[in-house]
Amino acid sequence: MNKILNFWAVVPAAGVGKRMNADRPKQYLELAGKTVIEQTLSGLLQANVFSAVAVAISPEDPYWPELEVAKHQLVITAPGGKERADSVLSGLKAIRNHANDDDWVLVHDAARPCLTTGDIHLLIDTLVNDDVGGILALSSHDTLKNVQDCDILGTMDRRLIWRALTPQMFRYGMLKTALEEAEGNPAVTDEASALELKGLRPKIVEGRPDNIKITRPEDLALAQFYMEQQ
Ligand code: C5P
Repeated sequence: MNKILNFWAVVPAAGVGKRMNADRPKQYLELAGKTVIEQTLSGLLQANVFSAVAVAISPEDPYWPELEVAKHQLVITAPGGKERADSVLSGLKAIRNHANDDDWVLVHDAARPCLTTGDIHLLIDTLVNDDVGGILALSSHDTLKNVQDCDILGTMDRRLIWRALTPQMFRYGMLKTALEEAEGNPAVTDEASALELKGLRPKIVEGRPDNIKITRPEDLALAQFYMEQQ
């Protein structure tokens, strides 16, 4: 008999978002009548696939406890860490008594509020029988340059270059072990890179270009536009 697999979401939300130059972390800025993080979590919860959503929040964060979604029955709060990878690991630990090693975990940035249910299902349907898992990604339309001190050293083959988005979908046990082994390694800027370090080959699944990460002030207006179009 096949074991029933559960799907879990982990949302790192403990960053400060310095590049926004705002008075609060970017996940608490307003977007289409709610905060960015509320939009992100409502997108994940609407997909109706997750047994729980673990959200990693900075221990000094005064905004999170004020939000209604923090009390949602499927939302678990975990303490955020120094780097994004530490926050993700903390989210994984918060569900360790419930998740099986073979269960799938989708890690999604709090700062990507425009994720669609369609992209969540595309990722899951494409990878559910894969041994390793993978990530939503986008190909590059621009010509890409290798640059040092404003001097162009060369042109990259853009057919080989993809931009890593989230969600990133991996098995609970494999992801937790990979992140624990990679702890403190600055090269680990997403989940896939922790698995790559173990010699594994995560897959890419082409996602929608409107799944942007809020990074700079102008991204909020763009995200609002995309949400209205969806
Ligand atoms: O800073 P950046 O936009 O790359 O962060 C991506 C995501 O990781 C954000 O949702 C941010 O809140 C989260 N993060 C975290 N813990 C950190 C740093 C970033 O949860 N220490």
